Amino acid sequence: MGEFSKGLEGVIAAETEMSFIDGQKGVLEYVGIPIGELATHSTFEETVFLLWNRRLPTSSELESFKGELRKRYALPSGLARRIPEIPTTAQPMHMLRTLISEMSLYDTHPNDNDPEQARRKAMNILGQAPTIVAQFDRCRRGLPVVEPDPSLGFSANFLYMLNGEKPTDAMTRAFDICMITHADHGLNNSTFTARVVISTLSDVYSALTAAVGSLRGPLHGGANEGVMKMLNEIPSVADAEAYVLGKLERKEKIMGFGHRVYKAKDPRAKELMALAKQLADDTGNTDLYEKSHAIERVMEREVAAKGIYPNVDFYSATTYHCIGLKLDLFTPMFALSRIGGWAGHVIEQLSDNRLFRPGAKYVGPHDQPYVPIAQR
Ligand code: CMC
Repeated sequence: MGEFSKGLEGVIAAETEMSFIDGQKGVLEYVGIPIGELATHSTFEETVFLLWNRRLPTSSELESFKGELRKRYALPSGLARRIPEIPTTAQPMHMLRTLISEMSLYDTHPNDNDPEQARRKAMNILGQAPTIVAQFDRCRRGLPVVEPDPSLGFSANFLYMLNGEKPTDAMTRAFDICMITHADHGLNNSTFTARVVISTLSDVYSALTAAVGSLRGPLHGGANEGVMKMLNEIPSVADAEAYVLGKLERKEKIMGFGHRVYKAKDPRAKELMALAKQLADDTGNTDLYEKSHAIERVMEREVAAKGIYPNVDFYSATTYHCIGLKLDLFTPMFALSRIGGWAGHVIEQLSDNRLFRPGAKYVGPHDQPYVPIAQR
C-alpha cells in the first residue's frame, strides 16, 4: 500500500488524452489546444467532438455530429410526462440527477458498454439534459413547455426552450463560450466519480447520475451559485473590501476562489472575466462586474501569495446572471457542459478499464472484546 494522501492530493489516478492542466502556470488545454483558442474560435459541439475523438472534426464530421445531437433533443414521451409531476419546489440539480438516472428506463440496452453503445448513451444524455432543465424550469414557472428546435445549435436551442424566444447571436455565443470553458477539467471530483462508477462496468447513466451528485457540492460546481449569493449580499462596490476582509478574518472561504490544482489564475476565469465584463456592460449590470472585480483586487492583495486566485466559478456567476439565468440554474449549466467531459472520460475509461479500488488506512482500535448488548 502507498502513502495516505488526504483528499487524494497529488495522486495520479488515471491517464487521459482529453485535458491538460498546468496549475502553476495557469494553463488548460483540451487535446493540446489552449482553452483561450477554443473559447475564441470553437463551438460547444465541436469541442465535445474534440474531447470524444481527441481530434478536431472535418466539416462533414461536424455536421453529422451536430445532426446526430439534434435528433436527441426531444425527450421520450414518458420522460416528458414526468416533468410536470415534479414538485415546483424541487431543486434543479436534484431534478437533473434524478432524470438522468430515469433516462436509463427508456433505453432498451441500458447496460451495454461497447464503444458504439456508450457513445449513443452519451449523445442521448448530452442532447436531452438541456431539454429536461428547460422544461422543468418552464413548468415550475407555470409556463407552457417549449419543444426543442432541431434547426438550432446546442446553445441557441437551450436558451430558446428556456425563454420561449430565439436568443440573440451575442447571447448564444456567450452561452456557448461558457459551455466550452466548463466542458472538461482533468480528474476533477465529478469526473473522477464518473470514472469510478464506470470502472465497475456499471453503465453510462449510472456514472453520469453520480457525477451530477458530485458536481452539486459547494466546493465543486455549486460554487457558482455561492458566488452569486455573495455578490447579492454585498450592497455596493464600496462595501466589497470590508465584506471580504471580514470573511477572511473569520476564516470563511470566498466562493469562486482557490483550486486544488491551480496556484495561478484559472485560465477559464480569464476568458470568463472578459465575457462577464462585456455582458455586464451590455445588460446594465456593470455594478455586478465592478463588485466582482473589487473582490478580486482585495483577494489578490490578501491571499494571492498563498496561491488563491479566481477559479472558473467566479466570473461565470456574473456571466450567467447577465444571460438572464436564475440562480439555481447556474450549477445545472455547469452540468450541461460537463456532460461532454464526463461522457468522454467514461468512454476513455471503458477503453482501458481497471476497477478503481484504493485502500483505506485503518486508524481504529484492534482486538476489542464483543460486549453483549445488555452490558453496554
Ligand atoms: N477563500 C479563502 N481562503 C481559501 C479559499 C477561499 N476560497 N480557498 C482556499 N483557501 C485557504 C484555506 O482556508 C486554507 O488556508 P490555511 O492553509 O490557512 O488553512 C488554504 O487556502 C488551503 O485550502 P484548502 O481548502 O485546504 O484547499 P483545497 O485544495 O482542499 O481546496 C477548494 C480547493 C476549491 C475546495 C477551495 O479552494 C475552496 O473551498 N474554494 C471555494 C469553493 C470554490 O470556489 N469551489 C470551486 C472550485 S473550481 C470549480 C470546480 O471544481 O467546480
